[in-house]
Amino acid sequence: MIRKIGVLTSGGDSPGMNAAIRAVTRTALANGIGVVGIHDGYKGLIEGNYEEFTKSSVSDILSRGGTILGSARLPEFKNDDVQLQAVETLKKNSIDALVVIGGDGSYRGAAALTARGINCIGLPGTIDNDIQGTDYTIGFDTALNTIVECVDKLRDTSSSHHRCSVVEVMGNRCGDLAIYSGLSCGAEILITPETGYDEEAVLEKLRYLESSKKRHAIVIVSEKVTDVNALADKISKSTGFAARATILGHIQRGGCPSPSDRVLASRMGAKAVELLIEGIGGQCIGIKNNEITYMPIEECVTMPRESRKQFYRLFDRLV
Ligand code: ADP
Ligand code: F6P
Repeated sequence: MIRKIGVLTSGGDSPGMNAAIRAVTRTALANGIGVVGIHDGYKGLIEGNYEEFTKSSVSDILSRGGTILGSARLPEFKNDDVQLQAVETLKKNSIDALVVIGGDGSYRGAAALTARGINCIGLPGTIDNDIQGTDYTIGFDTALNTIVECVDKLRDTSSSHHRCSVVEVMGNRCGDLAIYSGLSCGAEILITPETGYDEEAVLEKLRYLESSKKRHAIVIVSEKVTDVNALADKISKSTGFAARATILGHIQRGGCPSPSDRVLASRMGAKAVELLIEGIGGQCIGIKNNEITYMPIEECVTMPRESRKQFYRLFDRLV
């Protein structure tokens, strides 16, 4: 039987993490289980940076972006001694189980703690949508909305000036933010880890678009694939378009979570606590075909990425 659970957010923050913290807290309290908010991810976990939560600790956070608990990265958490220190600090504070909201790195930490006797449940909190075993991660929808709003604005000015906008979006080597925003905004060209980067093919396509009297072009590029400023320079020099690069950056991680992310985070947070009450640990929560699901973390972090071929084919057909 569990009496007290901890909740922490780890890795890059994402809109909807607060909604998840709220759902975890309120579900646990409603079941007579105490809740401790752990500040700054695994760093706060080993340092004992803990706060006893009441129902009102999570009031007015559902609509707020970021995470009230703070997030951090602690590479040393891979080390045995640091994990043992975490277990000791949790036991000293009578915390029996943990909900970890973060990406796959955070999941690996949660699996390690479970193996050391502290049941953990992972919730997929990242804008990148790069976690397997779930159709969507908490924060993806909000980030996508932010990108679409920005690209729609860029299209207005690009069109007025007969320009090409080269827009870099986040994704951490996953092209989901790029392909979903490309489809949503009607981009002309996509460059993602999945498409690869063929510079000459991109320039050739833009020359063709320019010669067919297109007034503007949007090129969406996933981060870490190529330098968007250098690409914009090449486009300006060797196609009829004047190009401008925009790196959307951390603006994609902020802002009020969308209603979809709030609902997703609330459903996932409640499920995490239900599993812990049943004595289940080492699992991560997902959503598949609108059903809340769960699977072993170890399986999730080793699964191959789901193919997005159909999305890319659709993009090619509609462009
Ligand atoms: P994300 O959770 O968003 O993928 P990171 O990859 O930065 O972000 O991981 C967040 C934190 O999770 C790391 O700073 C580290 O504390 C912990 N972590 C990452 N990988 C491991 C691992 N293999 N074992 C234990 N802890 C890990
Ligand atoms: O994982 C979320 C994410 O925003 C990635 O899209 C990006 O690559 C990375 O985090 C940026 O990390 P940082 O906040 O450390 O710059």
